[in-house]
Order: sequence, then C-alpha cells, then structure tokens
Amino acid sequence: MHTELLQTDAASHASELLVVFAADIAAGSGDQAQPRLLVDDMAFEPATEFALASGEFKAEENELLLLHSPQGLSAMRLLIVGVGKRAKVTPHVLGRAAGAAVRAAKQRSLRSLAVVFPSAEFQTADVARAIVYSVQLADFDPDTYRSDRKDKSIQNFSLLLSFSVDREAGEAGFREGNILGESQNFTRSLVNEPGNRLTPTMLGQRAAAMCHENGISCIVYGADKLQELKMGAFWSVAKGSDEPPALIVMRYEPEGAAPGPVVGLVGKGITFDTGGISLKPAENMEKMKYDMAGAAAMLGAMRAIAQLKPKVRVIGVICSAENMPSGKAQKPGDVQISMSGKSIEVINTDAEGRLVLADGLAYARQLGATHLIDAATLTGACVVALGKIRAGGFSNDEETWKRFADAAEDAGEKFWQLPLDDEYRELLKSEIADIKNTGGRYGGAITAAMFLKEFVGETPWVHLDIAGCAWIEDKRGYIATGPSGIGVPSVAGWVRSFAAAEPEPEPEAEPSEPESPGTEPSSEVS
Ligand code: BES
Ligand code: MN
Ligand code: ZN
Repeated sequence: MHTELLQTDAASHASELLVVFAADIAAGSGDQAQPRLLVDDMAFEPATEFALASGEFKAEENELLLLHSPQGLSAMRLLIVGVGKRAKVTPHVLGRAAGAAVRAAKQRSLRSLAVVFPSAEFQTADVARAIVYSVQLADFDPDTYRSDRKDKSIQNFSLLLSFSVDREAGEAGFREGNILGESQNFTRSLVNEPGNRLTPTMLGQRAAAMCHENGISCIVYGADKLQELKMGAFWSVAKGSDEPPALIVMRYEPEGAAPGPVVGLVGKGITFDTGGISLKPAENMEKMKYDMAGAAAMLGAMRAIAQLKPKVRVIGVICSAENMPSGKAQKPGDVQISMSGKSIEVINTDAEGRLVLADGLAYARQLGATHLIDAATLTGACVVALGKIRAGGFSNDEETWKRFADAAEDAGEKFWQLPLDDEYRELLKSEIADIKNTGGRYGGAITAAMFLKEFVGETPWVHLDIAGCAWIEDKRGYIATGPSGIGVPSVAGWVRSFAAAEPEPEPEAEPSEPESPGTEPSSEVS
C-alpha cells in the first residue's frame, strides 16, 4: 500500500472514496443522536446536511453511511464514518473508524481512499499515527491460500490535512503509525501460517530474512545449540517432533546507545501444539497453529524497533519447536534439568510453553538482558479469566509494570494485570524435583506465570499471556477475523521508553559568570 500525507483542500481532492468522521454531539446519553462532521469546512454541507438530519445515521462507532456523487465535492463517493460520542473520541477511536472505512472500501473492491483529518482540536501526531496504523491493520486479510483470492488490498491511502494543522507533527506520527502497522501485519502473516507451512526451521528463516532487511543481527541455532547450552526444558518439548527446534537470537545495537539498559524480548514459538503425550482433544486443535503468536509478536516488535531506531540495546530470543507425541516424546512424570540448573517435574506435556520459555528467559539473562519481557499464548486459564477482550499481564516489579501499562495504553492495546503472590508458589511444589510444570485447575494463568518467575531471578520482568487475544474470532468491522498481532505496538513502545533521550539542542552561548573556584568541571553530555 502506498500511503501519503497531503496538506490540501479536501473538498476539491479528487478520489474514488473520500472519508470523513462524524461524532454524536448530543449531551445526555438518553438524548437523540446529533451527528456532526469532524471537519470545519462548509463545503461538506450541501452533500451531508440532509443525510445527517434524517435521523437514520447516529454516528455510532464505526457506523457507515455512503453517498455517491456528493454535491460540491470532487470525490466520486463520500463515506461518513461514525466515531460515537464526541466527548469520548480518542485517537484510537478515530483510527478504528478509519479501519472500518478501509474494510468497507475493500468489500466494494475500491482500492484507493482518502481520509479527511479531523478538525484541529485533536493532537495531530497521535491522530495521524493512530489513523495510518489502523489503516494498515485493516488492509490485512488472512485468505492467503484461497484460489479465489482476489487481491483487493488497498493501493493508495491519503491522509488529508487542512492548512491549519501542523504538518510536521502529522508527518512524524504518520511515519510511526506506518511502521507499527506494517510490523504488526508482518506478525499477523506469520501467525496465520498453518503448522505445515511454518515449522520452527521456517520461522527461523523468516526471522533471519526480516532481520537482514532491517539491519538486525540474527543467528538461528538448531538442536546442537540446545544441547550445548544445556537447555533441558526447551529440548524436552522439541525432542518429540521430527522437526528440529529453532533458537533464534537477535541483537539490535544502535550507535550511540548506552551500555545499559539492555532490553530482552522472549517469545513462545510453538509452531503447533498437539499437547504432546498429554494429547489435546481433536475439537479446535487446528487453532494451535497460532501457538507461536508470542514469538511472532516479538519478531514484529524487533522489526518496528529497527525502523524507529530508539537508542537502546535490545536482545530477542525466540524458542521455537513443535509439541508432538511420538516414541521420542517426553512423558508425564519425566524430570528435566533446565538451563538454569533447576529441575522440573513434567506433570503435563501440554504445559510446554513455560518449559521453552524457562530456558529462553534464562538465556536472555545470560546474554546480558537487564529488563525482560515475554509474550506467549500460554494458558487457556487466562482466556477463562479475562475472556478475549484483555490479555493477561504479570510482573515482578511494579515500576516495570507501570512502564509497560503506559506503553500499552498509548498503543491502544488492552492488558490487565494479574497477581503473583508468593502463596501461589505452593501449588508448584514437587516431591521429586525443584518445581512441577502445572499447578492444578485453579488460577492456571497465575501458576504458569509463577513458574516463569522462577527463571528470571531478580531481573525486572513482564509476562504477557496473549492466549485469548492472539486470534480474533468475532466480527469487528475495523479489522479482519484471524490473527491480531497483539503485542507489537505495546512492546515496541515499552522498549522505546528505555531509550536514551535525544540530546537537547545546544543552548545559545551566552556570556556567563566565570565559574567559582572549587566547582567541579561539568562532565561532557553526549
Ligand atoms: N497453547 C496452550 C494454551 C492456549 C489455549 C493457547 C487456548 C491458545 C488458546 C498451552 O500450551 C496449553 O496447552 N496450556 C494448558 C496448560 C495446562 C496443561 C496446565 C492449558 O491451558 O490447558
Ligand atoms: Mn500446550
Ligand atoms: Zn502451547
């Protein structure tokens, strides 16, 4: 998709489809809807006045009204998209509405559209970022292998700024939104691949290609490296499959970054989860192709980071394997020695994600990560707890959680913090080993996170359980059903929050008082 930001007069902009936002400005919640366009341009009135007054269109979020040959405008069609109550409009609400417009365009086989930037009362950069980000997301469809697939992807997208809006702020947000949206679509295309078309080896190849294109260093290791590192937990999952595992190690080391912090991103990359010997029931098992969504999210975040170029060092560790039953597979009751040296009694071979992550987290620490984050489709219990609206979040450090929660809020993604009280650790006690890999039926998302916590030591760490949110099942209007790519913008934002601040521009040299004797010479600021 070609995207551009134009500063122009929207009414005289010729296009197949021109999109304007409308909000409901009625004060009370019981009042009749009063839709009003979010443009201060009288030129839109002749075309829209009657339609808006008719009462048919209420400007609810993502509600659409399409007008052909709009009077007084150069566009062939005008699409009015609702954004709900005026007082509740945020950049992300506007973004989703733009996404709904893209979905409507695709349905009609229209391949280019222009969105009128809402009037200047909004934060220009934030709105430009949110709109182009959502436009990118809305352009994605998961029909890769359909023979009747008609490529209806959008070819041209323009965001039209009026002359009263700060163009530079718009440009900056626009650029970031494009990077985040494209990176999240990269993640979604990986998550969408079925197990036979994305084995751990192939995931390694896709990661290496992405890293090569984006100037990230990347090494993909196989089974030998797992042996060498004594990754007994990761290997215990991998060994049941004929497909070799992949340990993907990425490094983003920008010039000018301080030696620390070093942010470590760790992803669960189970390309298919049968459950192993603790085999899953057949019903819905096909969904377990998306058990590598955590890994894909971290790859998308690495891609975004490499393009946004924050001055902070980042290490990415992806643990990828297939969880299969076979004569070589691990059995319930087996005891495995993890890389950290901790012994694990494997009660259930279907609790495999925490096994691969145990070694992934330990390895990221060994490589020098000072702050850790992992993402995983880890537990069905998290889906039971939070449904499919919010993903679970955990942390061993409140400040680190707060930093993540702020980044997620900015990114427009929904997480909910769940607790990690020491008492839950009791449930993981084993008679034979240091820890067992399941904690029983209750609090399953929490005991899974408690298990991971054993392997991060004192390092500040965030764990994201995205099992319920990695795959969108309901119809949403602004995004296709299928892989969501959750985590990419939040993780990228969290990483950016660690970046060394850009140096302040040198202040104008002014004649200054001579330094008083005894004052330390000021240290150089780089
Ligand atoms: N990959 C699953 C978790 C999952 C469930 C992801 C639903 C997406 C949707 C994970 O490996 C798993 O099987 N977890 C078990 C753990 C149990 C055996 C302790 C679960 O949640 O049932
Ligand atoms: Mn499993
Ligand atoms: Zn799994």
